[in-house]
Amino acid sequence: MCGIVGYIGNKTIDKELVDGLKLLEYRGYDSAGVAVLKNDKIYTTKAEGNISCLEKILKNEENATVGIAHTRWATHGKPSINNAHPHISSDKEWAVVHNGIIENFGQLKNDLQHNNFTFSSETDTEVIAHLLQQLNCEDKINTVIKTCKMLEGSFALAIINKNIDGTIYLAKRKSPLYISLNNAETFVASDPICFAGKTQSYYSLNDDEFCEAKIGKLIFYNLNGETISKKPIEMTDFDIKIDKQNYAHFMLKEIQETPSILKRIVQTYKDNNAFDKINNQILKNINKIILVGCGTAYHAGLVGASFIEKFAKIEARCFVASEFRYNDPLIDDKTLAIFVSQSGETADTIMAHELAKQKGAITIALTNVLYSSLAKKVDFIFPICAGPEIAVASTKAYTAQISILNMFAKHLCNVRNNTNFNFIDSLSNLANTLKILDINCLEDISKELINEKTMFFIGRGLDYFTCEEASLKLKEITYINSQAYPAGELKHGFLALVENGTHVFVIATQKALLDKTLNGAHEASARGAKLVIATQFDIPKSQLKDIYKIISLQNFDEDLMPIASIGAFQMLSYLTSTKKGINPDQPRNLAKSVTVE
Ligand code: G6P
Repeated sequence: MCGIVGYIGNKTIDKELVDGLKLLEYRGYDSAGVAVLKNDKIYTTKAEGNISCLEKILKNEENATVGIAHTRWATHGKPSINNAHPHISSDKEWAVVHNGIIENFGQLKNDLQHNNFTFSSETDTEVIAHLLQQLNCEDKINTVIKTCKMLEGSFALAIINKNIDGTIYLAKRKSPLYISLNNAETFVASDPICFAGKTQSYYSLNDDEFCEAKIGKLIFYNLNGETISKKPIEMTDFDIKIDKQNYAHFMLKEIQETPSILKRIVQTYKDNNAFDKINNQILKNINKIILVGCGTAYHAGLVGASFIEKFAKIEARCFVASEFRYNDPLIDDKTLAIFVSQSGETADTIMAHELAKQKGAITIALTNVLYSSLAKKVDFIFPICAGPEIAVASTKAYTAQISILNMFAKHLCNVRNNTNFNFIDSLSNLANTLKILDINCLEDISKELINEKTMFFIGRGLDYFTCEEASLKLKEITYINSQAYPAGELKHGFLALVENGTHVFVIATQKALLDKTLNGAHEASARGAKLVIATQFDIPKSQLKDIYKIISLQNFDEDLMPIASIGAFQMLSYLTSTKKGINPDQPRNLAKSVTVE
């Protein structure tokens, strides 16, 4: 959450900073701000709202040579100009932008107030600006290090000092921060996608590392203030232009990209099968597999656990990362732990990984970002090959994650039981024939949903997990209170909520469960529910009279149906969101990368 950008060079600084921020808007869009240094003075511009609000009031200071900028997802203090970053020390010597949470800021703030510092914001970050002033010494990087030693929690910091031209000071603990340079310019960002097309390589700061960044020169330090050397990372995978093309929104583009991503997964795993490393040698000691994630990634984990138990017959459980961390999970060196995270930066997932490692588990990251904090920590990486996902609500990454987990479950079965599943070919077949549902067929339903306050998804087995994900998509971008229920649980609460005209979406793709699911659906219909059924099966005529609408799905092997069915609901959520006048790429109060607890 929150995005940081820094720039040193001879281009118009404000513009460079804002262009960088636009690429990081997925990290938060409550407010934005820049600070630039010109003639020994720091100039700040801040705006409430997203980057376009900042862009409108930018002064484009001429002759500025260095600047830092920030897009905020509010943690401490409401979205407002006062709480927007950069924050400035009382003596106006220091400006700082921050991503993370300073856990001991209350105590630090009290101490600073006793020393007559006054605060103009409610943020935790402002303590850093005043601490820099309080601890200021001749050696500025030393001031930064001393300040960071006082901080508990997580931070990525970019800092400028009014007396030191052409320099940005950087610090990192638990929140990501990257630096890159060419001969004439130096760039700083929370995500190296900002460097694409500008430089060939970049540096990644590790926890408790610091950097003094100048033109043509980066000096790295450890917490003791000693200089350290770091190796650059070549830019490859993310060097992709982030561009909506002709689509109205990133979300629409990302949903439509799904078939081509599945093809890319097939090709990637054919060329270099990341599963091969999970061989008999490793598996002979494993008696349990756990999957851990948040939000959509958690739902992908639920589907994955089901695949693993079905195909590999290994006990598999999925956990929400924040619960896993505090429930003293029963795992040890016989556990294989898969951390599912599109971004690889979700704080709870990373902390859950730390716990699993401490307990001796073998760990895998199923991630889209191969340079992410999570990817750096795990034993093995399964890339999801989805390309940058910008819309806050995850779509193509989910479909990619469950596709890979489907293949992995079959790989485990092959290794364990000497079977011969050709899992790549079955996904390839789906990838070549999958079509994203025609928008027209969902238009009418989405028109009806715009006035709904409550609605439900019901399903059994794998379909129940699809219901959970479909329901989350709808909540995230339409703000409709939607709930998913196992179709066998309806009598235990759900039926009390059904009123005349309540929309109930029924996902029914598993033949053995079809009749039972339809029975539950008819019970809802008897209480007034409008049933919309998504299925690949022909519904018997006798059952049709109660059904309001049918969403016809393509027919694939049943274990692939979670991959084939979710697109319809991603699209339905998208259409409903846009009809309600919501920007589906940036739903209120949410952010794509949840880098704080
Ligand atoms: C946020 C995003 C979701 C995402 C979840 C987990 O809630 O808005 O789209 O599914 O975080 O993110 P991760 O990057 O760990 O998959």
